[in-house]
Amino acid sequence: MKIFIDTANIKEIKEAVALGLIDGVTTNPTLIAKENMVAEELLREICALFSGPVSAEVVSLEAEAMIREAEKLSRLAKNIVIKIPLVKEGLKAVRALSTEGIRTNVTLCFSVSQALLAAKAGADYISPFVGRIDDISYEGMDLIRQIKQVYSNYDFKTQIIVASVRNPLHVVEAARIGADIATVPFAVIEQLIKHPLTDLGVARFLEDYKKIPKK
Ligand code: G3P
Repeated sequence: MKIFIDTANIKEIKEAVALGLIDGVTTNPTLIAKENMVAEELLREICALFSGPVSAEVVSLEAEAMIREAEKLSRLAKNIVIKIPLVKEGLKAVRALSTEGIRTNVTLCFSVSQALLAAKAGADYISPFVGRIDDISYEGMDLIRQIKQVYSNYDFKTQIIVASVRNPLHVVEAARIGADIATVPFAVIEQLIKHPLTDLGVARFLEDYKKIPKK
């Protein structure tokens, strides 16, 4: 499973890239707003950090405007992927952009029907938001299972990005289901690595090492 980092913070991206485990970056207007930088400049800087896909979201609401915005964003760097919200105008834009060869990540997906239509429109990626589904007392990961089944039935090439990840279990479950990608906040990447028994074990080995006679 590929792991993307879900952030627009340069320091976090640099640290995650240095780990050697990061295959892509996803941003959205909320994440970019936290960085207090002109969006285009920030995105250009992120794209220069590594060659994997970097998702940048449009904010227009009509297909024509979304397409123009997407074309402008895609000129920032070769590795930009355009995030388009899963609304009627968005699907029209995805169809047009896929014909132009501009890669899309269809975002704010909350149902199988939406995911099916995004794939039919030619989306490269679909982003179901599991955490926000959990927030309203439904099982976010059930949606991933169902989308995976539908995409396999018809051999759709659209890759599933498990998004709105809030904890390590979301990532583990995504891998068990066979999702293509999980996009993970920096704090959750750190949680994925940590285990108290590993830390305890390292400390104990170091203590015992001190007892070994040295030359
Ligand atoms: O990848 C989408 C993500 O940024 C949304 O996460 O935690 O705001 O639902 P959250």
